[in-house]
Amino acid sequence: MPTHDEILKSLEAVIDPELRRSIVELGMVRSIDQHPDGSVDVTVSLTTPGCPIRSTFETAVRTAVGALDGVTSVGVAFDVLSADEKAGLQQKLGRGSLPAGALAQVSNVVCIGSGKGGVGKSTITANLAAALAAEGKTVGVLDADVWGYSIPRMFGVQGRPPVTPDRKIQPFEAGGVKIMSIGFFVEEDSAVVWRGPMLHKALTQFLEDVAWGELDFLLVDLPPGTGDVSMTLAQLLPQAKFVIVTTPQATAQKVARRSAEMAHKVNLEVGAVIENMAGFVTPSGERFAIFGEGGGAELADELDVPLLARVPLTMPLREQADAGIPLVVTDPDDPAAQSIRQAARGLIAMFPVELPVFQAAAPADAVGSGAPEPVGISLPMA
Ligand SMILES: Nc1ncnc2c1ncn2[C@@H]1O[C@H](COP(=O)(O)OP(=O)(O)OP(=O)(O)O)[C@@H](O)[C@H]1O
Ligand SMILES: [Mg+2]
Repeated sequence: MPTHDEILKSLEAVIDPELRRSIVELGMVRSIDQHPDGSVDVTVSLTTPGCPIRSTFETAVRTAVGALDGVTSVGVAFDVLSADEKAGLQQKLGRGSLPAGALAQVSNVVCIGSGKGGVGKSTITANLAAALAAEGKTVGVLDADVWGYSIPRMFGVQGRPPVTPDRKIQPFEAGGVKIMSIGFFVEEDSAVVWRGPMLHKALTQFLEDVAWGELDFLLVDLPPGTGDVSMTLAQLLPQAKFVIVTTPQATAQKVARRSAEMAHKVNLEVGAVIENMAGFVTPSGERFAIFGEGGGAELADELDVPLLARVPLTMPLREQADAGIPLVVTDPDDPAAQSIRQAARGLIAMFPVELPVFQAAAPADAVGSGAPEPVGISLPMA
């Protein structure tokens, strides 16, 4: 017969698919009762009574505990976490400081990262945002590169953002894209050392105290590498998807893979790869693979995620980044702009919009007879 601790240990294999941690770590194992006949009863505490992943838990608990030597049967019961317990859970998830409503109107958060610097994350982020806006999406860009911010320059915005009467920071807007960056708050070219709790606080504020409003996409431009910022954001934004930018070079791809591993470690889901600097075409049509070939496709294959685009090197892409208006706005037909627009459409496809489910109205005689009220959206009738 296994010990209580052995049973608890086996339950570490049961992962909450939404919170992406084990139910043991989340403190959701309410009780374990062992009986002389070898049967074990486990009670799992859920965050809400109608938890849709209940049956997932039931199967996973049965499998995990049932596999232990000496266990003859497993009973699974459920109850609900108290308000205090839920607050404790939020604290544990590092989201104690990010209130539930902070990003309530933001549908999708996409972090753009890379293993090494200078591969074009910020350029891609700025143009991707502009391309999403051109597709009719509402978009915000959070420049999370607190040490080497470049988003303000790429959108040609500067100054100190205004604060709304309810003490929220109003993001700047350029070409229909909402923009927030640490660059708006520090002296130009001053070296700011953001670390540890200060860094955590700054990023939390950017998510919590900025009036992002309703957004289809919030793109987050990460600093290069796999450091503190990514860790903090992973904690604050467990639902975010990670898009990795890499050059076609084999060595770059290797570094990019490391950032994918980091993303896995902090439970951020890698959603896609974008290859940048994928060749250069001369005006006469000759193509040079300056940074090699194939790294993006290989990485995407390996991670089993889509390769959203292979963005070529073009001078206008760099020039427009310096000039402060994204190339997809000034010349959407440039090969690099076309490619980034394709990536934007791929990104949209990655996040299918959930359509509201309509339910047929209950027959008139059912109303008031104890039958459940029909739920759904009522259309305004003339
Ligand atoms: N496809 C491209 N064609 C031409 N120039 C490009 C391309 N992609 C990026 N660049 C240029 O390369 C430089 C580096 O790009 P960018 O700043 O976007 O990289 P990054 O990955 O954000 O860098 P960091 O790691 O420092 O944040 C910039 O001058 C940018 O204009
Ligand atoms: Mg950058």
